[in-house]
Amino acid sequence: CGIVGYVGTREAADFLLDGLAKLEYRGYDSAGIAVYDQDRITVRKKMGRLINLLQEIKEHPVSGTIGIGHTRWATHGGPSDINSHPHTDMNGNFAIVHNGIIENYMEIKEELLKKGVVFRSETDSEVVAHLCADLYDGDFENTVRNVLRRLRGSYSLVFMSRFAPDRIICCKKDNPLIVGLGDGENYIASDIPAILSYTRKTYIMNDGEMAIVKKDGVWVTDLEGKPISKKVFVVNWDAEAAEKGGFEHFMLKEIYEQPKTIRDTLSCRMTADGKQVRFDELNWTPEDVRSIGKVLIIACGTAYHAGLLAKYFIEKLARIPVEVDIASEYRYRDPLTDSKTLSIIISQSGETIDTLAALKEAKRRGARSLAVTNVVGSSVSREADQVVYTWAGPEIAVASTKAYTTQLAALLLLAIYMGQLNGVLTTTAVTKLLQDLKKVPDQCEDIFSQVNTVKALAKAFTDHEDAFFIGRSMDYGLAMEGALKLKEISYIHAEAYAGGELKHGTLALIVPGIPVIALATQGDVEEKMISNIKEVKARDAYVIGIAKASDREVGKTVDVVLHVPDSDNFVVPILAVIPLQLLAYYAAVLKGNDVDKPRNLAKSVTVE
Ligand code: G6P
Repeated sequence: CGIVGYVGTREAADFLLDGLAKLEYRGYDSAGIAVYDQDRITVRKKMGRLINLLQEIKEHPVSGTIGIGHTRWATHGGPSDINSHPHTDMNGNFAIVHNGIIENYMEIKEELLKKGVVFRSETDSEVVAHLCADLYDGDFENTVRNVLRRLRGSYSLVFMSRFAPDRIICCKKDNPLIVGLGDGENYIASDIPAILSYTRKTYIMNDGEMAIVKKDGVWVTDLEGKPISKKVFVVNWDAEAAEKGGFEHFMLKEIYEQPKTIRDTLSCRMTADGKQVRFDELNWTPEDVRSIGKVLIIACGTAYHAGLLAKYFIEKLARIPVEVDIASEYRYRDPLTDSKTLSIIISQSGETIDTLAALKEAKRRGARSLAVTNVVGSSVSREADQVVYTWAGPEIAVASTKAYTTQLAALLLLAIYMGQLNGVLTTTAVTKLLQDLKKVPDQCEDIFSQVNTVKALAKAFTDHEDAFFIGRSMDYGLAMEGALKLKEISYIHAEAYAGGELKHGTLALIVPGIPVIALATQGDVEEKMISNIKEVKARDAYVIGIAKASDREVGKTVDVVLHVPDSDNFVVPILAVIPLQLLAYYAAVLKGNDVDKPRNLAKSVTVE
């Protein structure tokens, strides 16, 4: 989501709408603004693109010099006028905009419902507005601090109140927020592009800081109210770089967003003691899982590759047979699908026509259906019986990165959930897996620290027309995704092979110097994988190994090894794909390709 705020002497709506236009790439399900106008907070909000809101304001103008705004990427509650931000309390005394996820919103909502509060939306964010009214003690700042004490989760939040109409208050935790410093006016934004044509002087807000923003000054405090002196950060990016958060391409930005997006996907889906998976959106019983005769996974492209790994997850952790099919193949093969089949439909966009048609076909044959998708309210999410959202936020680059890793995280959680419910997994096994999963967001940073090595290795590809990716078990599924990434954006021909299959044909293609990426993160097949590496080394291939940090063997057999942090075999693919994404990215950059918009490809394919 994107957030803006304004306090000054000009019409707030002008800045708010202009800022939202710059942030539309962060979400475009709906948009809204709240402006303080003659002792009232007036809200205008509309589902759909920003243009709808502009039309609404043209018909029903608002006037005032202080206001907040939001462009939404739906998480809790589908896209609709009502679910759009800003949200207000029942009396219209407080308005808020929120970016992130309030993990304990259900608990707060239940408490407020008991007090007679009437909720209008299905969002987690609305609780914040009502909580302001509930906790208001005559002091706006103090009230905001008390509200923050109650919230768990991630947020950037902006508050305004009819009781203090000269200021807006903002704060953040795990989501971006900046304050723009103007002359007789000040601005708030989740991202730099929103303010760039107004000022380049900013305060970059840190977690646990709160800014009280008035037209003639900005005061930053900690959550206890103690003043913090902030350094002014002067932005020197151009407008286009700013949209990409300073990254050269959306793809690189999205690769680097993975710690946050994986964290978001995991959040709310484990019990507080970390011993169980919970999916409030599914709420399955042991019987629901025991009645599944077969799981059928349907998807296209990168989402299909996530499905290939999910087969290992579900078969090994829940002992339920899994079939994985390419959506366009499934439809026409007269499949054996019946009412004992659970179909899992994976789609980032939720709009891929092949996937949607395959979902309809599975339903027609009596299957239960579960969508794993990133886009709330998308066609696939509406068509399926149940939905698990991946919460990766908008993915702009055609080559999918953060959508894939969040799909893996969600599917692994789902497999654990199934194994926990049907009694295949012990609590100890679940706890151990969840402990490793929780470490992933931080561990991504270890991989990013090797980016210069990866960059240098990318050169190995650009001198060749072919490359091979090999792996066994889950690494085979990952090899397929690594090869696809390279093909999509660098246009280098790449093939993925199961390590054991090499000798049945592919070895004939191995010539001296040819790059081979050998994925060897799976302990149980490591010895076999090392034999396969030796087979290609013996033909003088240039082998880049990917192994766990504690591994001592792989490094001895390959030309170069990239290490990924130690983690459970089921969890490590989420980490091990990141160097593959970076390799493909830098190979494409070296070749001077249009990384975000590769030739002949589209982000969302709505034709058969
Ligand atoms: C297109 C994109 C791929 C994507 C595939 C499936 O081909 O270029 O990156 O993996 O569609 O998209 P979906 O939105 O259904 O996951």
